[in-house]
Amino acid sequence: MSQLLTSHLTQLPLENKRVILRADLNVPLHNGIVANDFKIKALLPTINYILEHGAKITLLTHLGRPKGHDPKFSTQPIAHWFNVHGYTTSLLATPDAAAIKPNAQITMLENLRFFAGEKNKDEAFAQQLATLGDLYVNDAFGVLHRDDTSVTVLPSLFKPEDRTIGFLVEQELKALSRLIDSPAEPFVFIVGGGKVHDKLPLIEAMLPRVHTILFCPAISCTVAKALGKGVGKSLVDEGSLPAVAEFIKKAFDRNVRLVIPSDYQVAQGNLQGPLSCVCADDFPFDDMAITIGPCTIDCYAQEIQNAKTIFFNGLPGFVDRPKTLQGVAGIFKAMGNSSGFSVIGGGDSVAAAQELGLDDRIDYLSTGGGASLAYLAGQELPGLKVFIHASH
Ligand code: 3PG
Repeated sequence: MSQLLTSHLTQLPLENKRVILRADLNVPLHNGIVANDFKIKALLPTINYILEHGAKITLLTHLGRPKGHDPKFSTQPIAHWFNVHGYTTSLLATPDAAAIKPNAQITMLENLRFFAGEKNKDEAFAQQLATLGDLYVNDAFGVLHRDDTSVTVLPSLFKPEDRTIGFLVEQELKALSRLIDSPAEPFVFIVGGGKVHDKLPLIEAMLPRVHTILFCPAISCTVAKALGKGVGKSLVDEGSLPAVAEFIKKAFDRNVRLVIPSDYQVAQGNLQGPLSCVCADDFPFDDMAITIGPCTIDCYAQEIQNAKTIFFNGLPGFVDRPKTLQGVAGIFKAMGNSSGFSVIGGGDSVAAAQELGLDDRIDYLSTGGGASLAYLAGQELPGLKVFIHASH
């Protein structure tokens, strides 16, 4: 069963308060500008509600995976987006309540991952963050699967009546629960991207629910290699090969069909190299798989056409390199044409769908990639624990 929770934002005493809003504004940047604002726009109902009810916001997010302080990962471009869109926003370099500008509607803290305390459940760091507000709202769906200080320790410092999930988290849980509680069959799961080690247990946990898994690069290359196939210089998680072999056996026992690409779009030499299409059985030793090839697009489109529930997670190709998006364009078109309930999970994947003009016909676009997968796989999301236990 899904973990459905409701937001109590409308019951919080907001007037003249400062609200700490943990968001997932891990958005793509291009030349120091927000390149896709899907995640920001998804947060606006919560932001607008808080501001319209007389409170100010301290906005917390991570951005990318910096190792310590790195100006490339500054949240300044996000603060700029808010200013351009009519929200008076100022950037706060460190969690110092005294430095908050009283006239700013939104005070945006620098990237949480600039501070060592974010990743190690540091109570002192949480205490410091807590000084930035009177109330705590978690609307960071995309990061609920991470046991990070601002997600799990910080809310525990607030009284149950002073903390809640936001409107976006509530909406995500509700929309995705349709894929958990008796999804229409057959259920086709399309999975790509890297992070094999992270994703494999979650994909395995999906086995009881799905009928067919369509693999895309890069993960398909690790699966292909575990099956003894050549994948040239493609990204392979060597350490996960034994676990993938075990997973293949389990899928077979459960009658879940695993499909890997019969052809690929590849880059020669390195990921930026010239692109061409190759047959999977004839994979050149110097090439790297980027996305699925034309025959695989047709095959996957057919599978999607016949499905009643379709979940896509993990983008093959690169949003900033349009020629590498042909494979995913074929998949999204098929999802749009299918009468089944279709969901795309993850900021990059949604950005690609928007870039391709194929987002409109998808039934639900989730801001969470890893988080949507963890939720569908039945994991208890660390970021929800404090709210679940408080509601009983
Ligand atoms: C995402 O983009 O999926 C979320 O922001 C989580 O980011 P992370 O995988 O770096 O924790």
